[in-house]
Amino acid sequence: MVPSGGEVLGLGSRLFRRVVVLDEVESTQRVAREAAGEEGSSGGVLVVAGRQVGGKGRLGREWGSPEGGLWLSLLIKPDYAPVFAPRMTQSAAVAVAGFLREIGIAARIKWPNDLMVEGRKICGVLAESSLTSGERGLRLDYVVLGIGLNVNLDPEDLGLSEYQATSIRRELGRDVPLLEVLARLLPKLEDELGRVEDFGETLRDLRSLSDTLGRRVRVRRLGEVIEGLAVGIDLEGALVVSTENGLVKLSEGDVENLRGL
Ligand code: BTN
Repeated sequence: MVPSGGEVLGLGSRLFRRVVVLDEVESTQRVAREAAGEEGSSGGVLVVAGRQVGGKGRLGREWGSPEGGLWLSLLIKPDYAPVFAPRMTQSAAVAVAGFLREIGIAARIKWPNDLMVEGRKICGVLAESSLTSGERGLRLDYVVLGIGLNVNLDPEDLGLSEYQATSIRRELGRDVPLLEVLARLLPKLEDELGRVEDFGETLRDLRSLSDTLGRRVRVRRLGEVIEGLAVGIDLEGALVVSTENGLVKLSEGDVENLRGL
């Protein structure tokens, strides 16, 4: 059951001033983006849905979102430079990893922002930014930060095998109320998102929780395939891959972990 708006509001967070709770929606990303354009909305909107019928994943993929998951989008109007926006997804991934580890699930972060438990995906993060160019260069209008966390559902409910996906229910062997998950996740998000400009601590966590560093990887990016050893994550959150042609820095892409070194 999705928590009601009043209950969510009762949680309080500096991240939002308004909460929209919906039983069913196409995508919470879309609702949050529409809120950005509403007159008087100065950012800080949390959208939570019980299920999504057109959930969006990274790289234009579909995101299965049946009942039982935590499907949320946060509309944030940050006052920092656009260059910091990509860090937000990784900050959010660190926050979710922190929460999962706190409840006893040893999640790791597959670059850039997939939360994995022994190779099975438990959560995805999607940030969509709106930029406009003005007299003083690019301005970051808003970011819609989407989080999809498999809570009280099974991989089969997502049309996936137990080798591809997992959930809190699968890992703990019991269900956890969605409101409790939200209540414990929000302060972690608040902390991490508050550190986006001073990324040092988050970067340390990203590196130590990485499921990608030290592995041989194949990265698909804009029609190009890069293979090599993942050797670093830099201050912009880019993945540094050592290839036979030297070091390559990737700020986006789809990573496949390869076997062996
Ligand atoms: C990924 O591809 O890993 C990112 C998935 C992000 C899914 C979440 S669920 C809530 C929000 N609404 C969407 O349509 N997508 C994001």
